[in-house]
Amino acid sequence: MINPSIEAVNLSKQFGSFFAVSNLNLKIEGSKCVGFLGPNGAGKTTTLKMFTDLIRPSSGEALINGFNVHTHKKEALESVGTLIETPEIYPSLTPREALMMIAEIRGVPSRDRNNRIEEALSEVRMKEWIDKKVGKFSKGMKQRICIASTLLSNPRILLLDEPSLGLDPRGMSEVRDIVKSLKNKERLIFMSSHILSEVSDICDEVAMIDHGKLIIYDTISNLIARVSDGENIVEVGLQRPIDTRIVTKTITNLPGVYSTEKKDDKNLRIRFTGGLEVQERILSDLVKLNIGVISYRPASSELEDAYLKLVKRTL
Ligand SMILES: Nc1ncnc2c1ncn2[C@@H]1O[C@H](COP(=O)(O)OP(=O)(O)O)[C@@H](O)[C@H]1O
Ligand SMILES: [Mg+2]
Repeated sequence: MINPSIEAVNLSKQFGSFFAVSNLNLKIEGSKCVGFLGPNGAGKTTTLKMFTDLIRPSSGEALINGFNVHTHKKEALESVGTLIETPEIYPSLTPREALMMIAEIRGVPSRDRNNRIEEALSEVRMKEWIDKKVGKFSKGMKQRICIASTLLSNPRILLLDEPSLGLDPRGMSEVRDIVKSLKNKERLIFMSSHILSEVSDICDEVAMIDHGKLIIYDTISNLIARVSDGENIVEVGLQRPIDTRIVTKTITNLPGVYSTEKKDDKNLRIRFTGGLEVQERILSDLVKLNIGVISYRPASSELEDAYLKLVKRTL
């Protein structure tokens, strides 16, 4: 089985004199999930449309499994499932009926259609709804049917454009769980999102784009390390107010600690350099100080910080 790959080579799209995508070079290969992250208007949808031949590049190439998407569309898109502009499913249809029509259009052999539809619906955990009318479904359920439609031809590559956009929190978390479970198959998933926490939750790697330009392509942990210069933060909650002298004299001098900030009497932010071992040792040292530690957790804004720093650098 070939290694799935998608590649942009000097890929650009101009609308008039405006570059929506500018000289993008990016190669992703192997079975993994890569987040395509960037603020609104960054050029994510435009890029994905060039990867599916919905629009033509102004210059450069979009390649899938080595085939140019525009000049060798059939070979390039044969093993690709795409969800770009979510289609409305006719409300009086059932998932079986709607997917049957799509399977036919996609050229799934007629003898395989029923099986493929059932498998695809199981993958998005909607099998028990197979013969119910779509009109009664929540937005999240409809989106899961749309995701099932991308799976009908059993693709090795999935291109998903903001799959949780416009859903309520429950729908978003359902769709995220589904995308996570799709990862376990031998697939390359390339999923755009403007939501950082979504990408860090689901994906192994991230390609970040802003103003049509690629800013970084790396693993999520490397990205954080690169931007934070190896510096990490934990937030510490205390049961009782802490004496400022203990903060400045004792805690700041613990091995690995770089600086300590008192957010208020009972909350500290500790910056340290190092990984999980250092994080563990600092906790054990704090407990020994008998200052009333009741919570200890990494600052959740790490990736957010990284993202903002990177986006700012390109302004
Ligand atoms: N058909 C079009 N004509 C003119 N400008 C467009 C067109 N499509 C997208 N753009 C512009 O290109 C930029 C990138 O858009 P898009 O790829 O949709 O961004 P994203 O998906 O990251 O939010 C935006 O500034 C958008 O207004
Ligand atoms: Mg978009």
